[in-house]
Amino acid sequence: MSQTKTKGKAVSITAIKGMNDILPGTVETWQFLEQKAREVFGTYGFAEIRTPAVEKTELFCRSIGETTDIVEKEMYTFNDKSGNSLTLRPEGTAPVTRSFIQNRLHTLDPVSKLYYMGPMFRYERPQKGRYRQFHQIGAEVIGVEDAKIDAQVLAMLHHYACEIGIDAVELQVNSLGCPECRPGYRKALIGYLEKRLDALCAECQRRYTTNPLRVLDCKATGCKEATVDAPSVLDHLCSGCEIHFGQVKKHLQALAIPFSVNDRMVRGLDYYVRTTFELVTDQLGSQNAVAAGGRYDGLVESLGGPALPGIGFAIGLERLVLMKGKDQVVATRPDLFLAALGEDAAEQAFVLMSKLQRSGVRAEMDYQGKSLKAQMRRANKLNARFTLILGEEELRNGSAELKDMDQSSQCQVALDGLEQELLSRL
Ligand code: HAM
Repeated sequence: MSQTKTKGKAVSITAIKGMNDILPGTVETWQFLEQKAREVFGTYGFAEIRTPAVEKTELFCRSIGETTDIVEKEMYTFNDKSGNSLTLRPEGTAPVTRSFIQNRLHTLDPVSKLYYMGPMFRYERPQKGRYRQFHQIGAEVIGVEDAKIDAQVLAMLHHYACEIGIDAVELQVNSLGCPECRPGYRKALIGYLEKRLDALCAECQRRYTTNPLRVLDCKATGCKEATVDAPSVLDHLCSGCEIHFGQVKKHLQALAIPFSVNDRMVRGLDYYVRTTFELVTDQLGSQNAVAAGGRYDGLVESLGGPALPGIGFAIGLERLVLMKGKDQVVATRPDLFLAALGEDAAEQAFVLMSKLQRSGVRAEMDYQGKSLKAQMRRANKLNARFTLILGEEELRNGSAELKDMDQSSQCQVALDGLEQELLSRL
């Protein structure tokens, strides 16, 4: 393949718009957030599930909904070489549900508590907090209808937010009803919107009959104003949904989880019924949802599985990282920097470093034959806990100088038994 060149220099290749590298210095925050999720979710009995990044397109069309923004315009869909239509997963609930059904997980346990983390793909207009490849940490419970599990899932999300030190968030909850009561609400909403069509944006004028609930979520000023007095979904719940939502709120209060009810919250995915929720912040501009989720009681059955209810959420990792901001997790510092003077010393330092690394000591050295001064500068830059200075003379005596970089003190140490000496000091 030929290489593109300008003035003899190869043109560099950049990442795809909206898809970001996560570099050292930031990746530590990611690792921290992922590790905490494993710990907290593990406490609540969740096990990890990993599904492929690519699924059959039909999975997302049938679960997320044909008239949603995700399916209509945001999916990375392509034909493979056999002509099958495949899609990079835009979210995790549908793949987890597909896997649950395919692997008959309900036969192993009547309640499946699963969590996942990984990249998702949506062809959205990139901006702060919104990307084309982004990462979610998600959790799903399949098999329980009781409102206690709604509260438990929200308690876990709240626990996680506390654990990672994110407090500028508000939990908003709503109920979107069920196939019994939603049609009545839809009808009332369409009736209301019909009288205000001129005030709606072109997009909402198009979708007010196909997906009227989305109009409530539209950011256009005209749509916002036109829907101020729109009917509330909470006034249209059937008694089953009303009781369920009442119980969710009661359990949240019993667990002292702070929340507010937002009856205007609609979600961008069609599988939701009853409880829906968002963890919102005012720190991220228009991309204010740090996490979101809800109940999807008909989804498993609609994808060909048993009639089992489900509930879950997904957290946007990029948004969490943005919120953590300067409060970043410090990169792990080396335990020891070996500064060597001369080739023999460098050779010995190299062998010693490798031995120490095998014993679990985070050891570093210079590979470029730099001066002692430059090596010390690098030890400082790396924030090494100790520096071991190996000179020709020290080597002859079988000793070296160990510098405690935090205490600014130093002492002679015997090379024999250095490993033990270091381990005892670390
Ligand atoms: P979602 O609201 O589409 O729900 O996404 C969940 C979270 O993912 C959002 O609140 C946001 O933090 C993050 N997110 C979504 N799109 C982007 C993007 N383009 N860039 C950066 N972050 C983004 C779902 O995906 C459902 N599967 C959640 C769920 C799980 N419901 C039940 N179980």
